[in-house]
Amino acid sequence: MKIQAIIPAAGSGVRLKSDVPKPFIELNGKPMIVHTLSIFERCQHVASVVLVVPQDHMAEFEKLVGTHKLHKVIRIVAGGDTRQVSVYNGLQVVDHDTDIVLVHDGARPLAEATLIDRILSQAGNEQALVIGVPLKPTVKRIDPEAMLVKETIARHNLWEIQTPQIFRKEILLKAHEANVAKEATDDAMLVEKMGVKVRIIEGSYDNIKVTTPEDVALAEFYLNRKKA
Ligand code: CTP
Ligand code: MG
Repeated sequence: MKIQAIIPAAGSGVRLKSDVPKPFIELNGKPMIVHTLSIFERCQHVASVVLVVPQDHMAEFEKLVGTHKLHKVIRIVAGGDTRQVSVYNGLQVVDHDTDIVLVHDGARPLAEATLIDRILSQAGNEQALVIGVPLKPTVKRIDPEAMLVKETIARHNLWEIQTPQIFRKEILLKAHEANVAKEATDDAMLVEKMGVKVRIIEGSYDNIKVTTPEDVALAEFYLNRKKA
């Protein structure tokens, strides 16, 4: 069973408000995308990696992959205007003999190689599999114009879904080609809409997505804690 990873890293990082593109922001002196790609260098079950990057930064990513000896990265392709388009572009260059595709956000440098390998060892039985954690905060739907609370959403059975997400290749391709959404924020959403069962495995609260400026310090804290 051949498994390849697609790493979408072609976003513009609007919420991070940094001077450099988000994947290049340094965490403990190393670009975030290097931390993320290094996870897959350590995953035994992942054969190789397709990296999806902004069209106008391709050369910088190629250089980074060479400098940091990220041997599993076999293709670097240009992304699109939305995450959905970026993953779709990555899917177009996955190997013909790949059975399973794993999608992981470039902005999640804290995923665990051991957890990924453990999940992948069970992936043969599943069509689609995601990781997530039970939601901790109280969530309310609001009216943003009036800034008034409309309702409180019962937290019971609500989970925050993360990446990696793992799919049979044909299912993910079909889901993307069905194009049921334009701006799906994850891939499972497209697969769910086709009626495919998506299995959930409990991940870890420290697998954060670096999204806003305060996440940078938090990611560094967790990276240091892992080293200790
Ligand atoms: N992504 C992508 N192509 C896009 C948009 C997002 O490959 N057009 C990637 C990001 O690079 C990131 C992941 O999808 O690794 C999750 O997206 P997010 O955290 O939202 O990153 P950005 O879109 O870059 O940030 P923002 O939404 O704040 O602009
Ligand atoms: Mg985004």
